[in-house]
Amino acid sequence: MDRIAITGGYRLEGEIPISGAKNAALPLMCASLLTKDPFILSNLPQLADISTLKLLLKGHGVRAKVLNCGKSLDQGRTISFTTEVITSTVAPYDIVRKMRASILVLGPLLARMGEATVSLPGGCAIGNRPIDLHLKGFEEMGATIELEEGYVRAVAPGGRLKGGNVHFPMISVGATENILMAATLASGTTTIENAAREPEISDLVNCLNAMGANIKGIGTKTLEIVGVDNLHGAEYAVMPDRIEAGSYAIAAAMTRGEIELKGKDLMDAMRGTIGILREAGLRFQETEGGIVATLGTDKVKGINVSTQPYPGFPTDMQAQVMAMMTLCDGASVINETIFENRFMHVPELTRMGADITVHGSTATLRGIDQLLGAPVMATDLRASMSLILAGLVADRQTFVNRIYHLDRGYERLVEKLSAVGAKIIRDANLGI
Ligand code: UD1
Repeated sequence: MDRIAITGGYRLEGEIPISGAKNAALPLMCASLLTKDPFILSNLPQLADISTLKLLLKGHGVRAKVLNCGKSLDQGRTISFTTEVITSTVAPYDIVRKMRASILVLGPLLARMGEATVSLPGGCAIGNRPIDLHLKGFEEMGATIELEEGYVRAVAPGGRLKGGNVHFPMISVGATENILMAATLASGTTTIENAAREPEISDLVNCLNAMGANIKGIGTKTLEIVGVDNLHGAEYAVMPDRIEAGSYAIAAAMTRGEIELKGKDLMDAMRGTIGILREAGLRFQETEGGIVATLGTDKVKGINVSTQPYPGFPTDMQAQVMAMMTLCDGASVINETIFENRFMHVPELTRMGADITVHGSTATLRGIDQLLGAPVMATDLRASMSLILAGLVADRQTFVNRIYHLDRGYERLVEKLSAVGAKIIRDANLGI
C-alpha cells in the first residue's frame, strides 16, 4: 500500500487551483440517469469516488465519453454522459459498499423507470449513517419500499412517482438530493421541507433546472418541484470544492504561509468555514480568481465550535480544524453534532503529541508548541487530511499510511502541496 511522507516545517506560499467538488459532482453524475440526451459535466475532479460512480452508472446503461482529460492542475475533466436506455435498475452491493453516495442513483432510477433495487450501503467508518429519510421521502411520493437480502426495492405504482409533501425531521444532504432528483419527473408538485441548504444542493438545483426541471426555493429550507414529463441534456460546470479549499486555507495558516485558493465564488460557498477560521485568526482576502488565505496573528487562537448543517461550520472540516487547534493559543472545544464516530483522527494526532481529551461528542484541546512527526494511520477521508496538515508543521518526518482514503476526495494532493513548497512525497508500496 502507498503512504505519504512529509517533512514538516516548510512555509507554504503560492497558488492552489481548487478542483471541482466531489460532493457536487456525485449527485450531478447521478442526474445523468434522468435524461436520454447527452449530459456534459465539466470541472470534474479525478478521484476514486468519481471512478466508482462511473462504474456503477455504466452498469445502469450510462455511456461516459471523456471530452477533455484535464491534464493540467487547474483544469478539471469534461465528460459526456448518455443514457439512451437504462439497462439495469439494480445497484449491486459490490459497488455500493465502496461508496455510500451510490444511494443517490435510487431517486433518478425510480423516477425514470418506476422501480429500482439498490443495495443498502451499510455502516461506514464515521458512523451508522442510515437512509431512512430517503426511503420515507420516496414513500411520501407514492413508492412502496421493501427490504430484502440487504437490498432496498422501491416501486412507483403505475410506473410514476407522484408529487408529495416531504418533511425531513432532520437535515440530510443526501436525502434532499435524492428526493429532489426523483421529484423532477414525478406527476404533480413535491415540496421538500427542512431541506439541506449546502451549496452542492444549489449546484444540483441549478443543473436540474438547466435540464428543464422546474424547481423553486434554491438555497432555502423549502424546495418546490413541479414535475415535468422529460428532462433534456445540458452542459454544466461542477462548482469548486469548498472543503478542499478550506483544508488548504488551514495549511496556509499552520505553516504561516500565504496561499491563493483559485476557484469561482469560493467566499460564499465557504461561509460557515470562513467565519470560524476568522475567529481562529485567519485572514481571507477576495481576489479576482479566488481568495488569499493567511494567518493574521502570531499563534492560532483557541475556538469553541460545533459542526452544523450549512450555513454552519461543516463536519467535513472538523478534523482539519482540529489539526490546527492542536497548536492553538490556550484551549479549544470542538463539538461534533452530525456524525457519532468522527473523532478517529484524535488517537493519531495524539501520537504526534497533541493534547486532546474526548468526552462523547466533545473534544477539548490544549494547545501545544510543537507537533512531532510519527507514522500515523488515515482512517477516513477528512481524518486523513488532518494528519497531512499536522505533518506539514511537525518536527521531522510524518508517514501517513492508508492513503486510499485521500484518493477518494483530494485530487492531486501531493502535486498541489509540492507546488506551494511542501516537502511531501508519495511512496509506493512502503505503507501498511
Ligand atoms: C453528505 C456528504 C458528506 C457530509 C455530510 C454532512 C456527500 C457525498 N457526502 O453525506 O461529505 O459529511 O453530507 O454534511 O455529499 N441521516 C439519517 N437518516 C438518513 C440520512 C441521514 O439519520 O436517511 C443522518 C446521518 O446519519 C447523519 C446526518 O443525518 O447523522 C446527516 O447526514 P447526511 O446529510 O445525509 O449526509 P450524507 O448525505 O450521507
